[in-house]
Amino acid sequence: MYAQMVKSTGDTVKSLEEMEPDERAFQERIDADIKIEPKDWMPEGYRKTLIRQISQHAHSEIVGQLPEGNWITRAPTLERKAILIAKVQDEAGHGLYLYCAAETLGVSRDEMNAQLLAGKAKYSSIFNYPTLTWADIGAIGWLVDGAAIMNQVPLQRCSFGPYSRAMIRICKEESFHQRQGYDIMMKLVAGTPEQKAMAQDALNRWWWPSLMMFGPSDATSVHSAQSMAWKIKQNTNDELRQRFVDQTVPQAEYLGLQVPDPDLQWNEERGSYDFGEVDWEEFFRVLKGNGPCNKERLAARQKAWDDGAWFRDGLMAHAEKHRARKVAAE
Ligand code: 3HC
Repeated sequence: MYAQMVKSTGDTVKSLEEMEPDERAFQERIDADIKIEPKDWMPEGYRKTLIRQISQHAHSEIVGQLPEGNWITRAPTLERKAILIAKVQDEAGHGLYLYCAAETLGVSRDEMNAQLLAGKAKYSSIFNYPTLTWADIGAIGWLVDGAAIMNQVPLQRCSFGPYSRAMIRICKEESFHQRQGYDIMMKLVAGTPEQKAMAQDALNRWWWPSLMMFGPSDATSVHSAQSMAWKIKQNTNDELRQRFVDQTVPQAEYLGLQVPDPDLQWNEERGSYDFGEVDWEEFFRVLKGNGPCNKERLAARQKAWDDGAWFRDGLMAHAEKHRARKVAAE
């Protein structure tokens, strides 16, 4: 009985015996790995958790275009520019799939957007850091998309059908993004001493914020226990963070770069790396809206929303005209 095996990390997870019949039948479907579809009965908490997580994820994809879009005009070659444009467009597509998946749960796009602009809905902390040099575009692809894949591959098995299916395509595209970032880093480390120093500087600035992407430690994660019992999440935040470190450190070594963590060392017994403590004060400061770029990012989203008003009005007027014509013809 999966629900009883979950280690509680904040929320109390009910056992099957404590559940009402509807809820118990629902949990048994989840435990049997049967996907939940939008029209199926679901506990209100399951619906709310999914709306929170999927909308946060969608907002992250959309806001995530901003730091990279900043470099489209300055990419060093035509080829790099074309690749970066394609990547940023992919992120827009991911945001749209995810908004659609959330809409199947009964929330509208306008509501989700209003929650973002009001600061009620979060987006990933990572996108509140600035992109100062071209090497940051390499580091984002390698580390940020790398962390996103580590987190999102298990989400392909999420219990909610529309979210799990959206993640399959998204993960394929993210792995291309990760490779293009690593490719930029490979070129930089093989270049002049200044270029290699730029790559090291980008790794220094993006390493810790990338580890923060996985969320607070298991001891302080509010939602993990219940989300794992519902198989929305398959792994805890710390498990995925550890996997990311284990996968990425050898990649940094291959590049000849130094991971900026004096406590990092291979633990022979555990067969994985020990690493230093994330600066959780910084993490929560960024979550509260006080990171280096929070205000700038929200202002950009507000401007895009305001600038798009005429287009949304046009679409509505067009739809209304069609509806009226259809009614007149009936
Ligand atoms: N940034 C911002 N907020 C974060 C966060 C982060 N890195 N990590 C956790 N939080 C928030 C949670 O949303 C929650 O806040 P809330 O209660 O107000 O909603 C709070 O911190 C407590 O965290 P929990 O661990 O209890 O929350 P979750 O169980 O939801 O776990 C998560 C957090 C691992 C991020 C999970 O929500 C998740 O897997 N989300 C889907 C993936 C996602 O959103 N990825 C965005 C990454 S970037 C991206 O995809 C773009 C790509 O192109 C690079």
